[in-house]
Amino acid sequence: MEQYVIKGKQPLKGEVEIGGAKNAALAILAAATMANESVLIENIPNVQDVNVLLEAIREIGAGADRLDDHSVRINGASITDYRVDHEYIKKIRASYYLLGALLGKYKKAEVALPGGCAIGARPIDLHIKGFRALGAEVVIEHGLIKASAEKLTGTHIYLDKVSVGATINIMMAAVMATGKTIIENAAKEPHVVDVANFLGSMGANIRGAGTDVIRIVGVEKLHASEYTVIPDQIEAGTFMFAAAATNGDVTVKNVIPKHLEATSAKLHDVGCTIHEYDDAVRVVANGKLKHTQITTLPYPGFPTDMQPQMTVLLGMADGTSTVTESIFENRFKYVDELNRMGSEIKVESNIAIISGVGGYTGAVVNAPDLRAGAALVIAGLAAEGVTVVDDIHYIERGYERFDEKLRGLGAVIEKVSSEKEIQKFRLKVS
Ligand code: EPZ
Repeated sequence: MEQYVIKGKQPLKGEVEIGGAKNAALAILAAATMANESVLIENIPNVQDVNVLLEAIREIGAGADRLDDHSVRINGASITDYRVDHEYIKKIRASYYLLGALLGKYKKAEVALPGGCAIGARPIDLHIKGFRALGAEVVIEHGLIKASAEKLTGTHIYLDKVSVGATINIMMAAVMATGKTIIENAAKEPHVVDVANFLGSMGANIRGAGTDVIRIVGVEKLHASEYTVIPDQIEAGTFMFAAAATNGDVTVKNVIPKHLEATSAKLHDVGCTIHEYDDAVRVVANGKLKHTQITTLPYPGFPTDMQPQMTVLLGMADGTSTVTESIFENRFKYVDELNRMGSEIKVESNIAIISGVGGYTGAVVNAPDLRAGAALVIAGLAAEGVTVVDDIHYIERGYERFDEKLRGLGAVIEKVSSEKEIQKFRLKVS
């Protein structure tokens, strides 16, 4: 089992290059199977979740070739199977995008109920509601979601809750339906827009992505395309928080600053200086962090995927802060781990009440999920002494070369896989 071992208190300095957005890439790869021609997608991050999805795409018969670390060619012409039920696919949430893609293209799909990070109950009722509204029959049997239709017909769908996954999935199912579909109360996240742009590049007719009403007029088929995935705003934000937590000065490059506005605004509130450039953002910390209040919200609000990183920062700030998690009810599981590093955080229902402690001390902690894992690494980078983060396979699901990129900024972090290696690291840094 691999771990990260970190010697903290090293201010991060320099430049870091951000990769393609994992959550956009996952949906785009699934959507690419909808064309019977070759689709080239660039800026795909080389992370575990993407590799698992590519494997599933190959299993149903589609071509999925990695041309290099970040370019993938998909060809959906050779698909022979509409069932995706391998054990490994249950581990990733985004497997459900194959449901929308296959249902949209073949009017038939069977996909294992998805897993993903355990951050709360993660129902898929809204996806199912959308597919049914388009005319599909959907049942859950033997752990599979089975959807089929004679024909999909455009319709008016109101989502009771803003859902990234449901918005994208319904959009995919609707692009080859007959007639016009309107999705109301749609998610506005940058990756929703990216998937819509990608589908558009294959010939789909989608208007309004990025607003809360998306209009789709069905087309008969989708065609070949070449597309580049947007930068990962969560990876970028994670490095911004790492800079702030270590009293650093970091420029995150290859980003869309507009997508980072909520993060930049909160970093500014706590006392950091933010410089925005065309495709880069620089975070300069000044050694003092101020308390603030945060509520996670759908885009353009403060992202739930940045909540643990923000909490780690506020744990070291002056005074009392609160963080309200309004998207996923179980996203504070890392707080017990952080408290082992000296934070004073109480969680009441969906609110974390944080009494700033000024600094952390290194400890052995477990990454409970992807973003919380990254947040614990940030805590380790800021802490006095050595921190060991266990279960880093969660982190590797969504961050490419995380430790390497951090080392490029001056962090003292290594990936190890035995107690002996940890001892060696401790000796080296003591
Ligand atoms: C996506 O999950 C991301 N995952 C998550 O990223 C991210 O945290 C989340 O969007 C919110 O931004 C992927 O893109 C693969 P939702 P998703 O549907 O689509 C409720 C990460 O760390 N809901 O927008 O599953 C749901 O319970 C991850 O990269 C229903 O009630 O999230 C939640 O409260 C973790 N019924 C809210 O909507 C449904 O049918 C928003 O969830 C669907 C969702």
